[in-house]
Amino acid sequence: MAKNKSSRSVVVASGTGTGVAIDIGISQDHRSAIAGGLSRLLADTYTLYLTTHNFHWNVTGPMFNTLHTMFMAQYTELWTAVDPIAERIRALGHPAPGSYAQFGALTSLPDAPAEPPKAFKMVKILVEGHEAVARTARGLFPLADEANDQPTADLLTQRLDIHEKTAWMLRSLLDEQ
Ligand SMILES: [Fe+2]
Repeated sequence: MAKNKSSRSVVVASGTGTGVAIDIGISQDHRSAIAGGLSRLLADTYTLYLTTHNFHWNVTGPMFNTLHTMFMAQYTELWTAVDPIAERIRALGHPAPGSYAQFGALTSLPDAPAEPPKAFKMVKILVEGHEAVARTARGLFPLADEANDQPTADLLTQRLDIHEKTAWMLRSLLDEQ
């Protein structure tokens, strides 16, 4: 294994499968810690995706059309978002988690209820889900900043914007008139 003479990482990361050293100016320790944080963000995002798609299928009541359509836009966005998060983990030299067991162990979100809740409760669960993902993304930001990892910071900024905006829109549905 190559010797690490400076802060530049030349150590082979575990799990890359290629055996080729990574030298992008982010230390091995930072890459590992950021990949861990991004794995939690990936698990949160996938869990929220699945719950939102579940609610798209199972929503009932007078708000059916509005919520069925709104949930579709939201689960499509979440489904699209998991890919760049996973690929950032790969670019940092680590394997991306991608199983129900891994996601279940990593996520900060609860699983979707086995029995479909009422529409109002669905919206409440999704508000809490988007807020939880925002907390996970925000919690990782200082580390990305410290490591001078601009692509991760950019990704986190984009995800924070989406989750906070979506939480606001869903929260607005809960306002009593
Ligand atoms: Fe559908």
